[in-house]
Amino acid sequence: MLIKRSSDIEQLSGIRPSEITNKEIYQSRRRFLRGGTALALGSGLGISSMLATQKVSHAASKFSNLIKSPFNAGETLTPYKDVTSYNNYYEFGTSKSSPAVMAKNFKTKPWTITVRGEVEKPLTLGMEDILKHYPMEERIYRLRCVEAWSMVVPWVGFPLASLIKDMKPTSKAKYISFRTLYDPKRMAGQKPALFGSGLDWPYREGLRMDEAMNPLTILAVGLYGEIMPNQNGAPIRLIVPWKYGFKSIKSIVSIEFTENRPNTTWAMLAPKEYGFYANVNPDVDHPRWSQSRERRLGEFRKRKTLLFNGYAEQVAGMYKDLDMKKFF
Ligand code: MTE
Repeated sequence: MLIKRSSDIEQLSGIRPSEITNKEIYQSRRRFLRGGTALALGSGLGISSMLATQKVSHAASKFSNLIKSPFNAGETLTPYKDVTSYNNYYEFGTSKSSPAVMAKNFKTKPWTITVRGEVEKPLTLGMEDILKHYPMEERIYRLRCVEAWSMVVPWVGFPLASLIKDMKPTSKAKYISFRTLYDPKRMAGQKPALFGSGLDWPYREGLRMDEAMNPLTILAVGLYGEIMPNQNGAPIRLIVPWKYGFKSIKSIVSIEFTENRPNTTWAMLAPKEYGFYANVNPDVDHPRWSQSRERRLGEFRKRKTLLFNGYAEQVAGMYKDLDMKKFF
């Protein structure tokens, strides 16, 4: 977004992008799933009513019985290869091709998420528990990056609202904030000496509570019917389809409910360029480039960017009293 480097993969790992094979990615997904016996999520915390219907096929690392998305009309999916090889994930390098290489051996098991702040009872959730207890849906969404490219991705996930309801936030909870894992030993991009991306780690993002509760907002654990590839934010990430992609934080380890608006990574680094809201808006340009058009991966001709990334019907009401130019 601010920094452009191309050769960090080879510099740091000696691995050429051509050396990554799909087979290896599939195998790491299988490792993620193996031995996934779940503990009773939140037993005694009043969330026993959750449906335990979701099954993950261990043989194929595929989700079965996915609830189909109502949001797929007329959209051509961006090929799996592009979705998994053109990424923004600065913890694993600043070039688009580096996350697929640098995150290849990133271990996402065991994985826990701490839930704290303005909640009745802070707790730690195990990833296996989440996978077992929330019925998974396929959501085919447009993803519009602030850099003016876009994709259409069939995510696998569940509404963030379901998790929030189970966590019972207090009446003081006005915002929700998320953090990515901070572990420079496992995420080479967090070592300032190596990359110097200038980002203040860990990566942080946040939403207003009404945005978090909107039915479009999901926590995603997979794509194309399969377990989330590491480079796309395994094992669990946020997807907020009407906002620029940087809001959709990857590899979440912490969720906090707060009374005040949380600091967020890109807004901290360059507040004049990246706002807290980051709603996709063709009428509010980035100071250094236009946001009126976008390049859909795989297409030659640029297409028009849609207000709220085409989800105005579902989300515009939340911003009717907001000056979108001021609060970009
Ligand atoms: N989350 C973390 N932790 N680190 C990142 O660098 N990049 C963001 C977002 N989430 C990023 C992140 C940006 S700028 C975009 S556009 C999307 O992830 C890209 O998601 P994708 O690689 O799955 O397409």
